[in-house]
Amino acid sequence: MIIEPRTRGFICLTAHPDGCATNVKEQIDHITSKGTFEGPKKVLVLGASTGFGLASRITAAFGTGAATLGVFFEKPPKEGKTSSPGWYNSAAFENEAHAAGLYAKSINGDAFSKEIKEKTLNTIKEDLGQVDLVVYSLAAPMRVHPETGVRHKSVLKPIGGVYENKTVDFHTGVVSDIKIEPCGEGDIENTVAVMGGEDWELWIDALMEADLLAPGAQTVAYSYIGPALTEPIYRKGTIGRAKDHLEATAGKLMQKMESLNGKAYVSVNKALVTQASSAIPVIPLYISLLFKIMKEKGIHEGCIEQMQRLFYDRMYNPDGLALDEAGRIRVDDWEMREDVQSQIAELWEQAETETLAEIGDLQGYKDEFFKLFGFHFDAVDYTADTNEMVAVPGLV
Ligand code: NAD
Ligand code: NA
Repeated sequence: MIIEPRTRGFICLTAHPDGCATNVKEQIDHITSKGTFEGPKKVLVLGASTGFGLASRITAAFGTGAATLGVFFEKPPKEGKTSSPGWYNSAAFENEAHAAGLYAKSINGDAFSKEIKEKTLNTIKEDLGQVDLVVYSLAAPMRVHPETGVRHKSVLKPIGGVYENKTVDFHTGVVSDIKIEPCGEGDIENTVAVMGGEDWELWIDALMEADLLAPGAQTVAYSYIGPALTEPIYRKGTIGRAKDHLEATAGKLMQKMESLNGKAYVSVNKALVTQASSAIPVIPLYISLLFKIMKEKGIHEGCIEQMQRLFYDRMYNPDGLALDEAGRIRVDDWEMREDVQSQIAELWEQAETETLAEIGDLQGYKDEFFKLFGFHFDAVDYTADTNEMVAVPGLV
């Protein structure tokens, strides 16, 4: 079929298999251009199909030849209907990994469930024996709690007061004022239940109980901080409480993993266009200004550049790992640079529908957004007939 982007609100309903494969290939090329690093050999990636999780998987596989088991929740294709992009990404990744002689298998299902944990543990037992790195990169709108059966929904809201600021509809370029009502009762708890550290801890507990973590194993989960500008909606909002919980969980897991000489970290990553972040008000406007400035300064990064620095220069740096005062890894260091942030604060005041195309990188934002779904790649012929029925070869 001929596959074109079809958008509704902040999401794109279609995905292009050849474009997704191009995206994966470009990320692999970035890693191989950096040479190899001495790193993990057997890696479990939770949330492996898009964003930071996919980039982590690519970095481990192609940077240090790691065997990877990926877990994700994606929609397979049907005749005449494309899959979600993570499915096509994973198919492309596995084809490339297998061609390079690397072990790569995937599990598609709800990582919060007992059933998928069990399936994952069994696969590790049978195929890998143990893993020496667990990447926790889930970003989900809801979680059914495995014990209580309660369905928790995460919300992106300020706490305690109305938040007023501006945002952009990146499809139209229209900048408008928004007013976001504070969260209601239960919103904080629910958001923490979905995006906090409880499920990460359940995974590590289950792996340790089954003796599936190798001596010296590490685990890392991803967080975000961002500038004062976005604090009410992000770091001091409901999602920020979940990130506080996630970061506290790292400390807890660090202690639990001491018995196997293991380590648990949170890495604070930079703001990027992903499916998750496109849905947060104010953030797209912030990112479009951030991209413009970071590109001008020659320090722009996408997911793969971030994960390359995280693995090569931080977690597996033979000279040691630098942490911030709260014990976190910081690869948001360039985003948070004083010169970058002071310029954004200035531009923020000027950002209007009329000025944004000039002062911000709206086109860059849009391109990145469509690339998530396999569109806007020069190398792909979007008028050509393509097969939507792509299989993930290593699906367990
Ligand atoms: P993403 O939406 O690109 O990826 C989410 C992954 O989770 C996908 O692989 C998806 O299939 C999987 N997933 C979702 N629900 C699942 C479920 N129930 N079971 C199994 N898999 C499931 O997200 P991302 O932006 O890469 O975010 C990953 C982490 O990085 C999050 O913790 C996020 O907060 C953090 N982070 C994101 C940004 C950003 O700007 N995007 C910045 C810093 C940190
Ligand atoms: Na991810």
